[in-house]
Formats: sequence, C-alpha cells, structure tokens
Amino acid sequence: MEQKFPSGFLWGAATSSHQVEGGNTNDWTEWEQKMAKSLSQRANSKNWPDFILKNYPNPLQPANYISGQACDHYNRFREDFDIAKSLGHNAHRFSIEWSRVEPEEGKFDEVVIEHYREVVKSLRERGLEPFVTLWHFTNPLWISKIGDWTNKKTIDYFVRYVRKMVEALTEINFWITLNEPDDIYTFYAYCVGKYPPQEKSFIKTWLALRNLILAHKKAYRVIHQHNSSAMVSFANNTIYFESRGVIARIIKIFANAYWNFYFLRKTLAYNDFIGCNFYHHNVLKGVMTNQNKNVETTDVGWEILPKGIYHVLKDLKKYNKPIYITENGLADAKDDKRTQFIEEHLKWIYKAISENVDIRGYFHWSLLDNFEWDKGFWPRFGLVEVNYQTLERKIRPSALAYAKICRTNKIESF
Ligand code: BGC
Repeated sequence: MEQKFPSGFLWGAATSSHQVEGGNTNDWTEWEQKMAKSLSQRANSKNWPDFILKNYPNPLQPANYISGQACDHYNRFREDFDIAKSLGHNAHRFSIEWSRVEPEEGKFDEVVIEHYREVVKSLRERGLEPFVTLWHFTNPLWISKIGDWTNKKTIDYFVRYVRKMVEALTEINFWITLNEPDDIYTFYAYCVGKYPPQEKSFIKTWLALRNLILAHKKAYRVIHQHNSSAMVSFANNTIYFESRGVIARIIKIFANAYWNFYFLRKTLAYNDFIGCNFYHHNVLKGVMTNQNKNVETTDVGWEILPKGIYHVLKDLKKYNKPIYITENGLADAKDDKRTQFIEEHLKWIYKAISENVDIRGYFHWSLLDNFEWDKGFWPRFGLVEVNYQTLERKIRPSALAYAKICRTNKIESF
C-alpha cells in the first residue's frame, strides 16, 4: 500500500552557513584555530574504523577541525541548488551568517546582503521554498568580545541585524530565528564547556538562555512588523526520552520539560509553527541517562530509533501549531543506512500525520557533507558527498531514494 503525504507537503534538506559556506571569520573560526591540535590528539585515543580514517581530512589530523573553505557553498550555491532541484526538493533550509553581514558593530556589508538576496532568488528560480535561519550557533567576533549571549546588549544587536535582513529579504515566508538555542547551544557553550566560549557556569547558562528567549520574542515582532503573514519560529532540538522504572519516569518529566519544551513554552505565543529537529533517543533507567541498547548506530555512535520521532511529534501535538521537521539525519559515510533511515523516519512521521498531527514538511540534515562543529569534517551527513580536496559533489544513492519520495509525495508502506 502507498502512503500519500498531504498535498503541499514541503520536501527538502537543510544546511547552516558555518558548516558549508567556507571563508568565515567568527567565534568558531577563532576557536577552531585554538583547538584543532588538541581535538586531533584527543581523537587519537579512539579505535577508528578504516573507512573513516581513509576519508580526507581524517579525524587524527588537525586540518579536520578547521572549517576553512568547507564546501565552498558560498560560491557554489547555484550548483548545489541545481542538485537539490534535480533531487525533487521543493524547499530548502539555509542560514545567514551574521558575522558576514555585520563583520563590525553597526557596519553592514551590502555586498554580503546582496549575496543572500541572490541565494533566495536562486532558490525561488528553482522552485525551492526558502526557510531562512538567522542564527545557527556562530557569532561575530565583536559579539563574542562582549560576552556573547550572556550580555544583554546582544539582544538588541541581534534584533538590529534581524531587521536589516527582513528589510533586505522581503518575500520570505518562513523564518527561523535561532537554531537549537537552549539544549544544544546554551548547554554546550555555557554549561558543559564543549562549544565556544567553553564556559561551565550555571549563571552564564541561565543568562544566555534568558537573553536568547528575549531575542527570539523581539525578532518575532520585528519580522511580523515587516511581514504580517510570515511564519516564524525557532528550530527546537527534541529527544525521545524513554523511562524504565518509577524514578526514571519522574526524571523524564524534568528531562522533557527542559530539553524538549522549555524554550517552546517560554516563547509559545511567538511561534507560528514548530521547527522540530530530531536525532536522539535517550533511555532513562533509575537515575541513569543514556542506557540505550544501541543496537544500530550512526558513524558518530548515535542510536537509530525512527519510532522516536513519532513519540516526539505526538507530544508536540498539544501545542496546536503546524510542525515542520527542520532537521533529521545521520552520519553515514558508506551510505548503507541512510535510505532505510529516511524511509523509516518518514513512515513514523506519516503515522503521526494520520493521527492528526499537523506536519507540513521534512528537511533532511543535510544536503551536503559538512563541518560538524567540534567533530570537524569526518562525519558524513550529506545526501551529497563532498570531496574536500577537489570540492567535487557526488550524489549518494540514498539521495536518489529520497528524491523518489519527494517527487511522488508518497512512501511505500512497509
Ligand atoms: C545541528 C546541526 C548539526 C546536526 C548534527 C543539529 O543539532 O543543528 O548543526 O550538524 O545537529 O549534529
């Protein structure tokens, strides 16, 4: 039997500026220079499979941890959008690099703004609906110098940049203000010290979170002042928490409240839809987290549990807003799991739709292999493989399987 998705369903893939553009100067590029050697040394202690070590750059080399020219998407976006179009996509999520638009406080680079106008135009010419993310983890250096998101001033600076972009890109229908502001960015940057500025402070975590919430609300208002019919949200990272036992059930309530719903609840009236990023399942047992069986994992060791997305979507139904899956994907250099991964996740998404969850689009992470933050280039998340030496693009078989779904708007039942 075939399972047909609602008409007008959006199909596409997502990227973010720092991960694909190349040639950036921001807080991450500075951090990469500082950290590349120690990250590669730390990687040395693992037992790496051969097929990963043969990739270039391999995880044991400092070059792996420096974003550098990345995929050179900044110059090759047309070619990349041609590929997305050839794969049957009708939508695309990308992000604008704040540090390019405003490299110095208050000095906006009109050439860069024109570049992003061209990006949007190229998407439209190819029949791809743009989903524009305004901030995906990276900050201009002048923002990091004033304490990033822990400084209240960053809110107004961000909103000024948002206004500039909204004035420049007038006909955008879908805006995503912030990507995973709470449990990924704030948690990694300020609480556990994994992302720059590598702080481990509860106070700073709280300050950053508070400021990001205010920034989202203000940005929402500014976007609506310019375009009252725009659909605005943030991309919410979600985890399927599964509890075993009474204590775990209580912990699950708190885990859900923080990881899945905190930012959403705090900004509920300021979201026209829910952007749902889904990658993880976390089994809670007693007071222990991550007690997953890990029967099947991706190259970065994350468990694959497609049914998890169904549980998360069912949970999000109570907010009564349209949902777009703004990210879902896996690191799979050999591409031997991606087709099934996509089909299985879509099967569970379809089930949620058939139970009246209002899901309107799916963006696979990612269109291209790209720079995976502190892990560098070795994880291969792309529907399209990138050769980082020649920058040649090669469409993976899974991309063709996904293309068939995008073109026909349906999946075969399993
Ligand atoms: C982030 C992406 C990242 C992906 C895979 C998401 O949390 O938004 O930037 O590449 O996960 O780790």
